[in-house]
Amino acid sequence: MKKVRVGLVGAGFAAHFHAHCYRRVSSVEVELHAVTAGHPEHARRFADEFQIPHPYDSLDALVADPEIDLVDVCIPNHLHVAAIEAAAAAGKHVAVEKPLTGYFGDDWPDPNARIGDVVPGEQMRRGALANADRAIAACQRAGVRLLYGENWVYAPGIQKMRRLLEKAGGPILRIEGEESHSGSHATYYRHWRTAGGGSLLGKGCHPLGAALYLKRVEGEIRGGKPIRPRSVVAETARLTKTAGFEREAVHYLKTGYEDVEDWATIVVTFEDGSVAQITAGETTLGGIRNYLTTWASNAVVTANINPNNLCTAYAPEATIFGDEYITEKIETKAGWTFPAPDEDWVTGYPHELQDFVECVAFDREPVSGNALARDVVAVVFAGYQSAREGRRVMID
Ligand SMILES: NC(=O)c1ccc[n+]([C@@H]2O[C@H](COP(=O)([O-])OP(=O)(O)OC[C@H]3O[C@@H](n4cnc5c(N)ncnc54)[C@H](O)[C@@H]3O)[C@@H](O)[C@H]2O)c1
Repeated sequence: MKKVRVGLVGAGFAAHFHAHCYRRVSSVEVELHAVTAGHPEHARRFADEFQIPHPYDSLDALVADPEIDLVDVCIPNHLHVAAIEAAAAAGKHVAVEKPLTGYFGDDWPDPNARIGDVVPGEQMRRGALANADRAIAACQRAGVRLLYGENWVYAPGIQKMRRLLEKAGGPILRIEGEESHSGSHATYYRHWRTAGGGSLLGKGCHPLGAALYLKRVEGEIRGGKPIRPRSVVAETARLTKTAGFEREAVHYLKTGYEDVEDWATIVVTFEDGSVAQITAGETTLGGIRNYLTTWASNAVVTANINPNNLCTAYAPEATIFGDEYITEKIETKAGWTFPAPDEDWVTGYPHELQDFVECVAFDREPVSGNALARDVVAVVFAGYQSAREGRRVMID
């Protein structure tokens, strides 16, 4: 059996579900070989938890390890491109969590400015695309693969949708999707300088990535080339900064977003005239709302990633189910709930890592790679420009 040795960069939320899901990979042996984090003690704690033999104090030390085949980047967005460049320069294949990158204000003269409030949309768009191109060029120069961690592409519900639509054969006319919940846990997510954008980038990238993927596949089957996004109209808002919300004594939603939006919606028009309507937000109670519906000319398919009714439960008191996990980000275990028997599986994480490991072991292209990663950045930042300027923006 082929063996792939992984070096994890990051030891937080995403690194945890990656470490769990590497254990589920079959047909290739995976060794979690090394880890590094923002603080050496975090890396050591993570290494103990997952029996990883080499906790490193720095990214440079990790990428210098000659044993590592694949560097898996699970760190805040503003650090993605530098980590990809370092890994590629050391000759390692690179997996990167979504989004590939964003805009971080590197070209804005005031280092203390709240860049989400002041930088024009056009400048942000140029900056974000330049970041994406740097990452992609670094991997191409080094002859290594860039594996884009968009788990929605791999989610069993989306892959079933793809197969049904392929058999149906009718053109996809309209796609509608959403990823929303009650707010992110991460501090970096609250600032444009570290998140690179707000909800549209951080959450919208998921349903958008799936929509762009499905239109790519449709185009490749029908005409031998992907159907690409052509233009965008978008709106963003800061709903947790509205006077009505701020007046309330109790908040069930997370707050404290500094200069990023906490809600966004975008309409993407593709070059064949079809559309995708994508919504993302931090202002949705009741657990994660992750779904995608496609309307083709002769079929309708919905993937309910979360919630779904694989299992439903009722409890009159929140304490009745004790510490048994229900599903991500619900506020209470009381009342009717949708307990997830295997949330990683339904979300597509094991399938994504299976693909990444196979790409390294067998030298093949990923289902989710750099073209999709770049298109997501292009559409999101055309969306930011559209929302700021109040007009349709064409994708270059
Ligand atoms: N696919 C998904 O569903 C999903 C879910 C959550 C997060 N993510 C993505 O994963 C990435 C990380 O998010 P998270 O929620 O795990 O954040 P987190 O705050 O939970 O963890 C971030 C980790 O990065 C480490 N880190 C910070 N600076 C570092 C550096 N210079 N070198 C090495 N490590 C460093 C921190 O020590 C921490 O362990 C983001 O890009 C996010 O968009 C994806």
